[in-house]
Amino acid sequence: MSPFTPEKTRLVVVLVGLPARGKTHIGRKVARYLNWLGFATRAFNIGDYRRTRLGRHHRHDFFNPTNEEGNRLRNELAALALEDLVTWMRGGGQVGIYDATNTTAARRRQVFDRCSQVGLDVVFVESVCEDPAIIESNIRETKLTSPDYEGVDPDEAARDFRARIDHYTRAYEPVHEENYSYIKLIDVGRVIVMHQIQGYVTGKLVHFLMNMHLVRRPIWLTRHGESEFNVQGRIGGDSPLTPNGRNYARALASFVREHAIRPPTVWTSTLRRTVETARELHLPFMPWRALDEIDGGLCDAMTYAEIAERMPEEYAARQADKLNYRYPRGESYVDVTQRLEPVILELEREREPVLVVGHQAVLRVLYAYFTDRRPEQVLHLDVPIHTVIELTPGPYAFTERRFALEPSGSGTSDIGDAMRD
Ligand code: SIN
Repeated sequence: MSPFTPEKTRLVVVLVGLPARGKTHIGRKVARYLNWLGFATRAFNIGDYRRTRLGRHHRHDFFNPTNEEGNRLRNELAALALEDLVTWMRGGGQVGIYDATNTTAARRRQVFDRCSQVGLDVVFVESVCEDPAIIESNIRETKLTSPDYEGVDPDEAARDFRARIDHYTRAYEPVHEENYSYIKLIDVGRVIVMHQIQGYVTGKLVHFLMNMHLVRRPIWLTRHGESEFNVQGRIGGDSPLTPNGRNYARALASFVREHAIRPPTVWTSTLRRTVETARELHLPFMPWRALDEIDGGLCDAMTYAEIAERMPEEYAARQADKLNYRYPRGESYVDVTQRLEPVILELEREREPVLVVGHQAVLRVLYAYFTDRRPEQVLHLDVPIHTVIELTPGPYAFTERRFALEPSGSGTSDIGDAMRD
């Protein structure tokens, strides 16, 4: 748990919506974001409970509200998942995401009452979408590849899934309850309705949901080209690129020309080495203060050997807890995460391809977000120099490709692990 996490957070996010309205997509994105911020968050998906406990063979009639046996089993699974969520929250979980249709007022009442009984706050997030193109693309992209339809002809599977939606549609009661806290997302955020919204995490949730969209575009992360301080093994500073670093800047420009369908939005830090790298692109770019490298404070411009020799307590404190360690008058990784939150929201909001030319610590933290890593994993993430990491959003996760833009051994490997700018 991060030190900036308000300890008292105990929130249940209850998803609501017909099948194929992106609930699981929303639930996973929200879980990734809140985990990245340091809130212990977990999604409980009833479809997974059904498949694990009853098998994967259920066709649409199982979901028919007039099917008594189907109703009994579905109610049992819903109760089981809810109890698991409550148990997890009692054991220290901070945000539980209850990922199910929850399309009737009676089901929502059960969830709300149970959570309130054990002192958990509840916010309902309802995804409403009537755009046939979005629904159809959701069915094709996520449902037909679901284990429910393994080995089933895609057209047959799509027909069955539409029949499943029809069953739920007959019993659907949109969220309207006056005493509930809720957010309605209509047509993937074209309209957002909020009701009785309060609290720190709920506020973050609203802000995050407002920036979500379905446009697929690559996000490229790269460190700046090799700098003079990199070669000397010094942290921080504001040194220029070396000739090797300038070669990388040119290689990056060629990469962008070859790979970008449209010119990307380019962001750098305010430091010389990222700006010099981006200049070679001959594209407009925006320097963000928030993208500056972790501030080494009094240790800025020193090598690790110098820190160990002149400030042994600082060196030892950092070795003991690199995540929370804050350089004297500088920053910790947790501080960096906090200041990168607006960058993440902006990356979520941006619909064009984006190229971020950054620094190792900062890119580790951004990369951790896209690859769903917990804060304590951040320090071990591999973000090598002279490499472009391409991240493309998929239905539930980002897919990753890496492009090393220099032949190995041409200056990258000999800088090695000690090189942390
Ligand atoms: C499912 O079994 O796939 C979902 C059940 C539900 O949330 O209604």
